[in-house]
Amino acid sequence: MIRVLFVCLGNICRSPTAEGVFGDLIKREGLADRITVDSAGTGAYHVGQQPDGRAQAAARKRGVDLSTQRARQVVASDIDRFDYVLAMDAENRSNLLAICPPNKDHKIQLLLDFATGEKGGNVPDPYYGQGDGFETVLDMIEDASRGLLADICNKHL
Ligand code: 4NP
Repeated sequence: MIRVLFVCLGNICRSPTAEGVFGDLIKREGLADRITVDSAGTGAYHVGQQPDGRAQAAARKRGVDLSTQRARQVVASDIDRFDYVLAMDAENRSNLLAICPPNKDHKIQLLLDFATGEKGGNVPDPYYGQGDGFETVLDMIEDASRGLLADICNKHL
């Protein structure tokens, strides 16, 4: 089993969206019994909450249900437990590296390292933004999810 954890700040916008989109992709590809998906936040502000209503609505329009997810804070043992720990931006990657157990740094990557275009960018935080921020987040996550799945298949399956 390959374990994938998506990490943002609040675990109510970007990483739940990634959990939903990537989880939907692996189900459609018939890989749900070989890859598990979870998400967490580096911050604790929203622990226990459902994803942001705007994130849920945007994902629902693309056929992805986020409603059963609940926010939790990432812990150091997650980095032991998961094979891929994918930060939504450089700040969250730094926060993960700060709690990373010895010799596990290689597990921590940016989600957009798997983007098809320019790699290594940030998924912008849509929480305080106006307009189509959640659509942009979905577009970026859908694209990187395909690259991520290709990487997992090449290396592990
Ligand atoms: P997320 O978005 O990290 O994508 O879940 C945010 C959610 C909440 C806050 C910041 C970002 N906040 O400051 O409460």
